[in-house]
Amino acid sequence: MPNARHNNKGPDMSDADKPVRTITIEVLRYRPEQDREPVWQSYQVPFTDDMSVLQGVQYIKDELDGSLSFRWSCRMAICGSCGMMIDGKPKLSCKTFLRDYHPGTLRVEPLAHFPIERDLVVGLEDFIDKLESIKPYIVPKEPRQLSQGEYLQTPAQRDEYEQFSSCINCTLCYAACPQYGMDSKFMGPGVLALLHRYNADSRDGAQADRMQIVGAEEGVWNCTAVAYCSEVCPKGVDPAKAVNLNKVNSAKAYFMGLPGKKEPAR
Ligand code: SF4
Ligand code: FES
Repeated sequence: MPNARHNNKGPDMSDADKPVRTITIEVLRYRPEQDREPVWQSYQVPFTDDMSVLQGVQYIKDELDGSLSFRWSCRMAICGSCGMMIDGKPKLSCKTFLRDYHPGTLRVEPLAHFPIERDLVVGLEDFIDKLESIKPYIVPKEPRQLSQGEYLQTPAQRDEYEQFSSCINCTLCYAACPQYGMDSKFMGPGVLALLHRYNADSRDGAQADRMQIVGAEEGVWNCTAVAYCSEVCPKGVDPAKAVNLNKVNSAKAYFMGLPGKKEPAR
């Protein structure tokens, strides 16, 4: 976790007892008004051992180059907005530490497989459209009046989906997914994990709608089972497992003639 004592100006007076070192951070810059294509820019950043990569990037913006653009909000691996390629791997920059890349040069790029809007900011419209399409909320099986009380659920029923409910929509798994990189029509790991989160919820009644998405050509059957998505997920969601469970559900639907069966290849 980043140390709350830091401001965005790098090491401060409270760090007087800590060794300050310097790391070279190379950032892939893209300013559409001046760059025909992305270019690397190098910065020298002083840091202490408890500074995250996000704090390093904030230091660049505040002290060296105010034109650098990137997203962040919570600084504690909750909001999912600070994802970047860090030395070629998709990571949350607030959960990744500069000390782990020293000595050496750290390379920071925008998340792979998404269009670059500016510097480290990528376009997420495609992901948001996909997310909205799966109805990422509970559609009650039976509408109830307030007077009828809560929708009750046993711990065992909750266990069916709980792991998948930890997704923070950070899209690291999309940057890790070779299939999404080749064909952006593929629904992708994070959305399929959330789809399973709601389909596996005993209170939900929209499984038939979502299974149409699971069984469609751009649904689970386009996954080539690389499973790097689960390796990079910062919240332990295991989207590859969700995709596999959905493949089983889709195959069952096929044999039972239910919605969500695997579509024949075109
Ligand atoms: S499944 Fe994991 S990596 Fe993918 S969007 Fe959700 S939290 Fe991020
Ligand atoms: S700033 Fe929110 S997850 Fe990193």
